[in-house]
Amino acid sequence: MEILRTVEQLRSAVARAKAEGLSIGLVPTMGALHKGHLSLVEKARDENDVVVVSVFVNPTQFNNPDDLRTYPRTEEADCALLRAAGVDYAFIPSVEEIYPEPDTRVFDLGPVAEVMEGAMRPGHFNGVAQIVSKLFAWAEPTRAYFGRKDIQQIAVIRRMAELEGFKGTIVPCPILREDDGLAMSSRNTRLTPEQRAIAPAIHHALTAAVEACASGGSVQQVHDATVEAVNAVPGLEVEYFAIVHPETMQPVQAWDEAPEGAIGCITVYCGDVRLIDNISFPALS
Ligand code: PAF
Repeated sequence: MEILRTVEQLRSAVARAKAEGLSIGLVPTMGALHKGHLSLVEKARDENDVVVVSVFVNPTQFNNPDDLRTYPRTEEADCALLRAAGVDYAFIPSVEEIYPEPDTRVFDLGPVAEVMEGAMRPGHFNGVAQIVSKLFAWAEPTRAYFGRKDIQQIAVIRRMAELEGFKGTIVPCPILREDDGLAMSSRNTRLTPEQRAIAPAIHHALTAAVEACASGGSVQQVHDATVEAVNAVPGLEVEYFAIVHPETMQPVQAWDEAPEGAIGCITVYCGDVRLIDNISFPALS
């Protein structure tokens, strides 16, 4: 595996691969890699000739300076994992390399970016669009891989890709979970043992929501019961739970507004650690 530190190095590696007619799989990450990321890398490895993984904690998508400061950074361990996973290139640039001058671009991301994370974290999705559009332009991926844990992010990236005329394919990948159901996340490393023990209640509440839907609960009933179940666990506090259309990300009032299956998206504070998760409701038959 070659570690690339500059955009120039990335561009030349990509140009060499393209000259040989090779396909490129890109996995954008912020590092602190876990099995969830590695499942994206594995899929990229299966489906492409060349795999590029970017490791970059993108400051423009953090609206909270403390979150940026405390975001785990584990470059050495990340490189070992990527090497073992058969990655060809790890792109690990500095902030100055990516943003030699401030990126003032404002993307017209539309309604998908206005709700949920967009409402709670102003500027977050514009920052994601900034970095991902740069990575797409430099790496020219045939396919780019993103985890469904950040399902709204995928919708936003699709919108950005449409605006920018991106020709590659965006590949959503399943959420990986710990044995007790907790969605894998780099932020899980910040949980104390006590917090780690209660965090799986989030996924349990989401699976109960799907069961409640199957037994005839309305969107409002399922919503309220889910929020109540999570908040009943001392140490957990729901920031939002929204039952949304899988493409537009807009809240639905009735299940038949999303016949292909709504998504329940939740954000929960576990102490000062903000955990996010989601679940798909079944399609209506
Ligand atoms: O999902 C993430 O880790 C980040 O938002 C991404 C897509 C790597 C952009 O910085």
